[in-house]
Amino acid sequence: MSTEPRIDWPALRKAAVEVMQRAYAPYSRFPVGAAGLVDDGRIVVGCNVENAAYGVGLCAECGLVSALHASGGGRLVAVACVGGDGEPLMPCGRCRQLLWENGGPECLLETARGVVPMTEVLPDAFDAKELG
Ligand code: THU
Repeated sequence: MSTEPRIDWPALRKAAVEVMQRAYAPYSRFPVGAAGLVDDGRIVVGCNVENAAYGVGLCAECGLVSALHASGGGRLVAVACVGGDGEPLMPCGRCRQLLWENGGPECLLETARGVVPMTEVLPDAFDAKELG
């Protein structure tokens, strides 16, 4: 487990909880919020947005990554994801890949067992390096 003193984890969790409350999850009734600290200091957020065509629903992390690029890009250095109870939620497999693409191996994630690097969240990740 790693820790990172310059990251304000309570602030990041608070941002995730706030955006979780704006989730559109009428089908699963499982709201999710995600907040990411960018390497320039700004915080980007996303919530899940579901659809009557269930399969095209968007995860909170998708919104976060879209917000990252829409607001100027950069690299994610720390991410907090929460469920409706405000507690850390592990990103789904697809979203782990999204976070890896935009934060890389050193990006940190708050989990129920503490702060862990993406190398623990998505071991042996596929990424752009594989494309040569
Ligand atoms: N969900 C997320 O937003 N992120 C995850 O990493 C896991 C799942 C959403 C998708 C769906 O709207 C709801 O949680 C139930 O699966």
